[in-house]
Amino acid sequence: MIASSILVSRALAPIEIAIANWRGFIGARQSFARLSLQLQSLPEVRESLALPKPEARLDVEGLFVGAPGQGQPVVGNAGFALTKGNALGIIGPSGSGKSTLVRAIIGAWPALRGTVRLDGAALDQWAPDELGLHIGYLPQEFELIDGTVAENISRFEPNAPAELVIDAARKAGVHDLVVRLPNGYETRIGESGAGLSAGQRQRVALARALYRDPFLVVLDEPNSNLDNEGDRALENAIVGVRRRGGIVLIVAHRPSVLANVDYLLHMTAGQSPVFGTKAEIMKRLTDQHAAAKSGWSAGGPVGDAIAQVQAAMANGGAGIVPRLKIIPDGQ
Ligand SMILES: Nc1ncnc2c1ncn2[C@@H]1O[C@H](COP(=O)(O)OP(=O)(O)OP(=O)(O)O)[C@@H](O)[C@H]1O
Ligand SMILES: [Mg+2]
Repeated sequence: MIASSILVSRALAPIEIAIANWRGFIGARQSFARLSLQLQSLPEVRESLALPKPEARLDVEGLFVGAPGQGQPVVGNAGFALTKGNALGIIGPSGSGKSTLVRAIIGAWPALRGTVRLDGAALDQWAPDELGLHIGYLPQEFELIDGTVAENISRFEPNAPAELVIDAARKAGVHDLVVRLPNGYETRIGESGAGLSAGQRQRVALARALYRDPFLVVLDEPNSNLDNEGDRALENAIVGVRRRGGIVLIVAHRPSVLANVDYLLHMTAGQSPVFGTKAEIMKRLTDQHAAAKSGWSAGGPVGDAIAQVQAAMANGGAGIVPRLKIIPDGQ
């Protein structure tokens, strides 16, 4: 009797184990299916002829973008043209698709329709690693990787030249802070930047976006964790990119950054983004606001956007970066 019950329990053991792990198995299968879908939606990597370094313009033409595998566009018909030295502020309420748009502009997410061109060539004409040299990107949810500060700034480039790492750190206003760390640039910052404050992490991530002076610098909410000193470093970095003939795109909620841009793209969920000079967009928002005021409250997304741009214009860079006056609006 005892022997047979032992035999039965032994015989049933594999079935019990299979049932206990069934949920994990289903989860793994679903994850595999999601991963396959994401990978399928990535554009094919083509053999590409080496193109010259972009140095003149960025064109975004009729761009429709949605999260990979979703099929539905979140951003519809975004279009604008910028030339070297321009900076574009991308504004709009939460969920309006600002991060989605910039992910497509840097080529991280495929566009459902439309084209992004650097000096006339669509992004897929560049080999991905070559394109990476021309685009610096600070994502909204940035990650630092387990490694040294220098490795994180140089994107783990083998034998990264020290002077270029330091140059990027200086441009992000983080050099003084790094040399004060226990091992300076060789300090290990651990996964997700352990050992640094949120503001310090964001400035290291900014230095990474500026490493090797990329032509296009895209910053998604770059000042979300910055104090006043960090804000000033960011403003100087933006002015620096413009002066060396690069193009900056900045997604911004806080107005201080917008003092340094000459163009604005206003995004509203479910509508095409509206592009213009800072003055044009400001006027448009003010007119819309005045028209809507009789019907509904003065606040809301349009009111917030107006307040944001007004504060930026009142700031005008005065006292922070007076050199900005050199670059007139709309040029
Ligand atoms: N990875 C994703 N998968 C599916 N949908 C997504 C993904 N990322 C964003 N979305 C959806 O796309 C829409 C736009 O999101 P997005 O992050 O671009 O907005 P945002 O303007 O950057 O907002 P915020 O100001 O809060 O950063 C949202 O409805 C969001 O739910
Ligand atoms: Mg966002």
